[in-house]
Amino acid sequence: MGITIAPFDAADQAAIDEAYRIGAAANDADLPDFPPFCRQRFTAAVRHPMPGSLRLWTLARLDGEPAGYLALDLPQLDNTDNADAELVVHPGYRRRGVGRALHEHGLRLLRAHGRKRVIAVTVSALPGGVARPEAGNAFAAATGARPALAEVRRRLDTGRLDLAALDTLAAGARAHATGYRTVRWRGATPEEYAADVAYLDGRLMADAPLGDLEWEPEQVDVERLRGRERALHARGRRGYHHAAVHEASGRVVAWTLIDLGPSADWHAWQQITIVDPAHRGHRLGLLVKIENLRYVLDHESALRAIDTWNAAENQHMVAINEQLGFRPVDAWTDWQLTL
Ligand SMILES: CC(C)(COP(=O)(O)OP(=O)(O)OC[C@H]1O[C@@H](n2cnc3c(N)ncnc32)[C@H](O)[C@@H]1OP(=O)(O)O)[C@@H](O)C(=O)NCCC(=O)NCCS
Repeated sequence: MGITIAPFDAADQAAIDEAYRIGAAANDADLPDFPPFCRQRFTAAVRHPMPGSLRLWTLARLDGEPAGYLALDLPQLDNTDNADAELVVHPGYRRRGVGRALHEHGLRLLRAHGRKRVIAVTVSALPGGVARPEAGNAFAAATGARPALAEVRRRLDTGRLDLAALDTLAAGARAHATGYRTVRWRGATPEEYAADVAYLDGRLMADAPLGDLEWEPEQVDVERLRGRERALHARGRRGYHHAAVHEASGRVVAWTLIDLGPSADWHAWQQITIVDPAHRGHRLGLLVKIENLRYVLDHESALRAIDTWNAAENQHMVAINEQLGFRPVDAWTDWQLTL
């Protein structure tokens, strides 16, 4: 029978379940310190894509058995030359051409949609760090993709947090942040902050170091922000937010988010942190991060680990994270392939 490839969509629950099981097996084998692969998140990713994104799903079988899947993300509102790919082969079926077959199928789909480049992420070991498979980097290089951005995942072990030291750091930050107050919320953004948060969200891809990645700033308005919030709600995410308000103008000028999913209450992701360029140098990034950390710890008593990613070259954010106690775990590479 060999390798067969077929698209699937939101109506095909059996295929969603088969793809989920492939993702779960790969997650457990490749990233043993990750939380369990979240079924709700995966199902919602098929059924409830992020606004402004066309998602194309493909399942590969090897001799009739589900062996790999490909998820292509085609932005519709910006980045219309670009695509993002997630390609996963079950650990039990690797090195038998499934990855290559999915990749070639993906290239045909992307060309048919007029895309010019595709981006995908792989994990590898840091020098002296925990072991990680070499397959991802070897595979990406074999497809002709180029490494475009080096990232590092860092983890905070919350059991080892020095809360007194954090309070001292926060007090120092507050002394530099006169004229600003912090606000916080869980879940959806309060209406009064929504326009500013959408603006900050859209700035991320303009402000974070992207290396050689060709990715345009995203056009985020309140409608898209609300759509993202609904999509995150469908994934069962619990979000904890802190923002800094510039008192003279009433605008939100800094924002950070930590979120957790339903598959593990011991694990969270430190997501976006961004300070508007006109308001940098007041330690607002450090301040909102520390306050948010305390906020999530107050509400999530089982939380033990928080993971975050930074571009290796993003010295400023890395320095903040190291101060908070985040330590390097593994290396992540964004690969870019020109079609
Ligand atoms: C990377 C991954 C998709 C490869 O899937 P696969 O079905 O094993 O890949 P293929 O058998 O089609 O291999 C294609 C080529 O990639 C390279 N390759 C794949 N795995 C490799 C490994 N472990 N070591 C060295 N080269 C490897 C080889 O050049 C291989 O060709 P060859 O077997 O003729 O030498 C799979 O290991 C995986 O799911 N890893 C976790 C997720 C991931 O990293 N995805 C990649 C995103 S770009």
